Amino acid sequence: MEKKNLDWANIGFSYIQTDKRYVSHYKDGAWDEGVLTSDASITLSECAGVLQYAQTCFEGLKAYTTEDGRIVTFRPDQNAKRMVNSAKGLEMPPFPEERFLEAVEMTVAANAAYVPPYGSGATLYIRPYMFGSSPVIGVKPAEQYQFRMFVTPVGPYFKGGARPLTIRVSDFDRAAPRGTGNIKAGLNYAMSLHAIVSAHEEGYDENMYLDPQTRTKVEETGGANFLFVTRDNKIVTPKSNSILPSITRRSLVHVAKEYLGMEVEEREVLLSEVKDFAECGLCGTAAVISPVGKIVDHGTEICFPSGMEKIGSVTQKLYDTLTGIQMGRIEAPEGWIHEIPVK
Ligand code: PLP
Ligand code: COI
Repeated sequence: MEKKNLDWANIGFSYIQTDKRYVSHYKDGAWDEGVLTSDASITLSECAGVLQYAQTCFEGLKAYTTEDGRIVTFRPDQNAKRMVNSAKGLEMPPFPEERFLEAVEMTVAANAAYVPPYGSGATLYIRPYMFGSSPVIGVKPAEQYQFRMFVTPVGPYFKGGARPLTIRVSDFDRAAPRGTGNIKAGLNYAMSLHAIVSAHEEGYDENMYLDPQTRTKVEETGGANFLFVTRDNKIVTPKSNSILPSITRRSLVHVAKEYLGMEVEEREVLLSEVKDFAECGLCGTAAVISPVGKIVDHGTEICFPSGMEKIGSVTQKLYDTLTGIQMGRIEAPEGWIHEIPVK
């Protein structure tokens, strides 16, 4: 299979249309069998549930080319499960987990020419999503849905790759205490758009959101969870019912404990203790683990000792081990790597 002629080393995190996408329709209480299509457009009723009341959720995972040339995905079963939870939280019919995995295989295999080569620095981002497609005017769930999945080759989520980020403590909230923060609802991201645009306008890369109830505890950013490293080399990561349970964060916790022999604390993290940490990183599928150099809290700067020039040593170790597992250089825990059969 010949790869597409893309400038792999220089693609950013943006949409590049690929050849095939997967679609399955839900109607009369059942999902149809699902097909791949070349048509990248969707025609919808003007009154579709997604357009009127934002009834939509999504997922994000990646496919990689390993050192020995296989195409693999990382823990897709966890994305399938999380999407079931997201669907339930939005009163949508869950897409069966085994069918999600089959759709990942079909969509990635059909676009194998777009999976970036090993060592290129790029990966193939997979975007499963579903939405209410039938007309809804009273506030209620739609009766018909589409589950879709497309892929797009991507480079680093944050411009500049491993350059430490500057983030600010946001005055806006991304999720309510008993709302939808723990599922991947499109509406959470709509909530964050004004905050991210104004953060960028003020020169920040991202927002640190606090718990909306007390505004004293660290939650997450718009698209990634936090990992901190203490000065005595422990990992600390915030625990909260209103943050997205990141698969990358859960994987890094395992890597820290089992591969690096580190202690890990998953607990509430107060904003007031952040100044005492040695390193800070943002973790997620898109972010992998991106180092944070500085957090600005209304004019007060928290500067991590790792600085603004380079990634901290523990963050680097976590990054190297996780990407080593994903790209087949380091042996993975049972069930983490899912090979895509390509004809
Ligand atoms: N938090 C938010 C709000 C996200 O959008 C994401 C991205 O999926 C994450 C965290 C990281 O989750 P994961 O590691 O499963 O990609
Ligand atoms: C991901 O990491 O997959 C995300 O969904 C984060 C962002 C692109 C929304």
